[in-house]
Amino acid sequence: MELNVLILPGDGIGTEVTREAVRVLQHVARKFRHKLNLSEGLLGGIAIHKTGTPFPQATEKLATAADATLMGAVGLPEFDNAPPDKRPERGLLGIRKTLGVYANLRPVRAYRALIESSPLKNHLVEGTDMIIVRELTGGIYYGTPRGITGSGPEERGTNTMTYTRAEIERVTRMAFELARNRRKKVTSVDKSNVLETSQLWRKVVIEVAPAYPDVALDHLLVDNCAMQLILNPKRFDVVVMENMFGDILSDEGAVLAGSIGMLPSASIGDRKPSGAWVGLYEPVHGSAPDIAGQNKANPLGAIGSVAAMFEYSFKLLEEAAAVNQAVEAVLNSGRVTADLKPKSTPATTEQVGQAVCEAIG
Ligand code: IPM
Ligand code: MG
Repeated sequence: MELNVLILPGDGIGTEVTREAVRVLQHVARKFRHKLNLSEGLLGGIAIHKTGTPFPQATEKLATAADATLMGAVGLPEFDNAPPDKRPERGLLGIRKTLGVYANLRPVRAYRALIESSPLKNHLVEGTDMIIVRELTGGIYYGTPRGITGSGPEERGTNTMTYTRAEIERVTRMAFELARNRRKKVTSVDKSNVLETSQLWRKVVIEVAPAYPDVALDHLLVDNCAMQLILNPKRFDVVVMENMFGDILSDEGAVLAGSIGMLPSASIGDRKPSGAWVGLYEPVHGSAPDIAGQNKANPLGAIGSVAAMFEYSFKLLEEAAAVNQAVEAVLNSGRVTADLKPKSTPATTEQVGQAVCEAIG
């Protein structure tokens, strides 16, 4: 198969972890005899430095042309006080919107080898295996009006949370489809006791559900969900929610996985005319400027995102499984980065990438 992949290393540890993810991507392509065509572009802080904007048109063109995009991370502290459209994060929101990747899948698994890395009691965490499905191109991240107006005590910040029925329906369907291939349970998260967007959300989810009679549905309020994720993570299979709730709860999920460095993500939209699914793949962790350039960031979230790319954009399940099994083998071997608190000297970012390739064989 011919795989056209755009690489956007981005900022901070994004470059380092992406280098290892690309190493694994190339290794798998060679082993399974796929033709891999890589292109590289600028996104985030580095794009602001080089072009003056976080999501340059050249990147937009490359992303639209590629079958799939692998991204590292965006964000640099030097932009903390920059105006909104000159911030690295805007680049990420821009590419998500341009590609129309409305469903962000964030699998959270408690690996046996990492049980000790979680601050939670082993018996609570063991066996956790869920996918958070976060709506990614709507809600308060994009709603208008937005902005800061006025001055003095009347200076006012405004954001708008808004959802259409169509936006809720498509991401809900995605969640039900995923659940069909898993434990057949969807939990929808909202704040319908207070927010109108959530009332519509719950109504639409309930209307979509009968098309999936084999899948059980329940609802949780977001504050309660935050608690249940820690109290009883095993109760969750597929968990679907709006954009900002998903941003917040998926970081909480990282505690279950042992380290945020472990979490991959896949953002997918509709099919292209070619039949391929548009996809943007990125680790959940962010740019971590405090440890950037030190070769100690955990690349397994980025490498897991490569596995997700094989699975969702290319439907190459054997390749995806090869990567995921290799990740598990490396975890069991203990050759892992410092965030996973290994018993012996921590491995470097690069060593972990090499170890995954070796384990793939
Ligand atoms: C994430 C990140 C992003 C988000 C930031 C970097 C814009 O936190 O992907 O979870 O809020 O979506
Ligand atoms: Mg986040």
